[in-house]
Amino acid sequence: KRISVIGVPMDLGQNRRGVDMGPSAMRYAGVIERLIALGFDVVDRGDIEIGRPSKLDVIEEGNLKDLKVVVKANQSLYEKVRSVGEQGDFPLVLGGDHSIAIGTLAAVAKERENLGVIWFDAHGDLNTGETSPSGNIHGMPLAVSLGLGHQSLAELGGYAPKIKPENIVIIGARSLDAGEKQLIREKGMNVYTMHEIDRLGMTQVMNEAIAYLSCGTDGVHLSVDLDALDPQDAPGVGTAVLGGTSYRETHLAMEMLAEQNMVTSAEFVEVNPILDVRNQTAVAAVELMGSLFGEKLL
Ligand code: ARG
Ligand code: MN
Ligand code: MN
Ligand code: MN
Repeated sequence: KRISVIGVPMDLGQNRRGVDMGPSAMRYAGVIERLIALGFDVVDRGDIEIGRPSKLDVIEEGNLKDLKVVVKANQSLYEKVRSVGEQGDFPLVLGGDHSIAIGTLAAVAKERENLGVIWFDAHGDLNTGETSPSGNIHGMPLAVSLGLGHQSLAELGGYAPKIKPENIVIIGARSLDAGEKQLIREKGMNVYTMHEIDRLGMTQVMNEAIAYLSCGTDGVHLSVDLDALDPQDAPGVGTAVLGGTSYRETHLAMEMLAEQNMVTSAEFVEVNPILDVRNQTAVAAVELMGSLFGEKLL
């Protein structure tokens, strides 16, 4: 199977500059070489072009910062991911902030009726302009993919919704806004907060998530926000929250997914080299990709 790597140097979905350097940092940490060493045919498709707003952090309409540039970049990403998908490649997207999941999901859900989504994150990313405390679009991609929020985001790719709430599993959550909690309850969504991970252990959490998504889905997209990890293990993120998954727990999750061979597309986002310590977070992301693609300890 061929892997197509797509970089998305996007930092406009949130307030802290620097996350646009994430794709470079992960390439520097050896992502391409690592996947080649595992025996994959790997094509680096370069970076999506991101426009620049004339003034940063402009709320253009409906509490959405830099809406137009975020929409435009996601449209390009959508087209790129669709074209590599049509060639039969596995799309591996490197962020950039989490707003880029809007374009990735629009592409990978297009030909699937029941795309499953595994969302590793400290956050729910289930806000809309109405519920968001920040106006940052990186806190909204899951809601957008459910068809909620501003039309120019929700209708990207010419259809909505992209995914069904029952096909989503969120893992690692520990910072949910009031509107997000309400939406989770309303839709009966599957969320393993840090409480469940502490209580059940990552093994059981992953066994349940895998069993749950194995029936009824026709593909699984894995979205890894590096802030799911504890800030000790991934300090280079813009919205760090204490009490995350450990380095090993997160690897275990990737290793269990590799055994199932169920993931059909993936993205690793929110690596911010300016906030990082000697590229530690980009290195962790690349190591996690190694585990996801079958690297074994022995
Ligand atoms: N819930 C907060 C917000 O809406 C934080 C979102 C953080 N999202 C992320 N992808 N890191 O602003
Ligand atoms: Mn679909
Ligand atoms: Mn997050
Ligand atoms: Mn996120």
